[in-house]
Amino acid sequence: MGKPKVVLGVSGGIAAYKACELLRRLTESGHEVRVVPTAASLNFVGEATWSALSGNPASTAVWESVHEVPHVRIGQSADLVVVAPATADMLAKAAHGLADDLLTNTLLTARCPVVFAPAMHTEMWEHPATQENVATLRRRGAVVIEPAVGRLTGKDTGKGRLPDPEEIFEVCRHVLRRGAPSGATAGPDLAGRHVVVSAGGTREPLDPVRFLGNRSSGKQGYALARTAVARGARVTLVAANTALADPAGVDVVRVGTALQLREAVREAAAGADAVVMAAAVADFRPAEYASGKIKKKDGEEPAPVALVRNPDVLAEISASRAGEGRIVVGFAAETDDVLANGRAKLRRKGCDLLVVNEVGEAKTFGSEENEAVVLGSDGTETHVPHGPKEVLADVIWDQVVARLPARRA
Ligand code: CTP
Repeated sequence: MGKPKVVLGVSGGIAAYKACELLRRLTESGHEVRVVPTAASLNFVGEATWSALSGNPASTAVWESVHEVPHVRIGQSADLVVVAPATADMLAKAAHGLADDLLTNTLLTARCPVVFAPAMHTEMWEHPATQENVATLRRRGAVVIEPAVGRLTGKDTGKGRLPDPEEIFEVCRHVLRRGAPSGATAGPDLAGRHVVVSAGGTREPLDPVRFLGNRSSGKQGYALARTAVARGARVTLVAANTALADPAGVDVVRVGTALQLREAVREAAAGADAVVMAAAVADFRPAEYASGKIKKKDGEEPAPVALVRNPDVLAEISASRAGEGRIVVGFAAETDDVLANGRAKLRRKGCDLLVVNEVGEAKTFGSEENEAVVLGSDGTETHVPHGPKEVLADVIWDQVVARLPARRA
């Protein structure tokens, strides 16, 4: 099998320079990349940069190098087209099927998955014209990554930033791996869905410098968020004390304690299609919070720490969704009697799916890999062998998709 063929479309925004890094990531990881810049984008990054980094000519016009590569062939033979940055103008052209340069022609001839990574000023992103164009592209099966919030050109800040190239690369990798068809007939299976994922581990403060915490890194939850974006979902990630980069296209809500996580998950879950509780939530918190640092005293034993129960967020979310068709997924970290404990926990928590994994000193926490059994309340049992956390994430989404009620027309 040859290298996967990727077309990197670059439209004319200042964020075009970030596409150089995306290109580098793609070529270094074994993809054959053809860069198709718009004429306007060459004001930001020149043709020489694209051809040097990709090892392929980078043309903007339909009539260049016709004898070598007919313009239709670039789109037809691609395994993935990614447009980064995608300007408001490019989204409009793509939504309306205009074909006045090589990139827009390529978009019309491509029958592979298409990913757009928009970048523009907040006002342009929020304009109904842009939003309708984005909705059109998504309806047709494209993955349009939500822009990040942050510093824009000049002094402006807001939604409209191109996500980090590393994270756009992750979306491309997931989309390529699944090879989901895009185009008029089929699209990513979570398109039009809103999913909420909690990740990380809560910290329950004892005093201003100490807390009760756990060893969850958040990697499984982040893998769930990334794969959901690649499958077309709108994703809210409630992240408790993680040190990981924000995944592209994900609305990240940062929390510290179990009570904060509960508030954030509840708020995001209203109207959502699925909630996946991958976070390790502390079952107990200190009954008292010392506003000053607790000091040791010579000759005195330390005072015992009294604990109180935290609410069970998963059980609450499961119980409070009557008739709303929301799919709720829990995780169970077990050290003994893994399956029996998992089945009992599934019943106790009232969720639809429970992902059971065995934990221990050397297992799961902080690692890139995971091994689990996904139990369904309908009796299903899916064993996922040891492998990358994103593979487990995809199995979980497969199970969610299979249970989602049909969309209202
Ligand atoms: N969970 C939650 N709220 C809590 C504790 C846990 O929402 N206060 C969720 C976790 O996000 C996870 C699931 O419940 O999805 C299972 O958590 P786990 O700690 O394995 O189970 P516990 O209910 O704490 O049971 P036990 O202490 O018996 O292991």
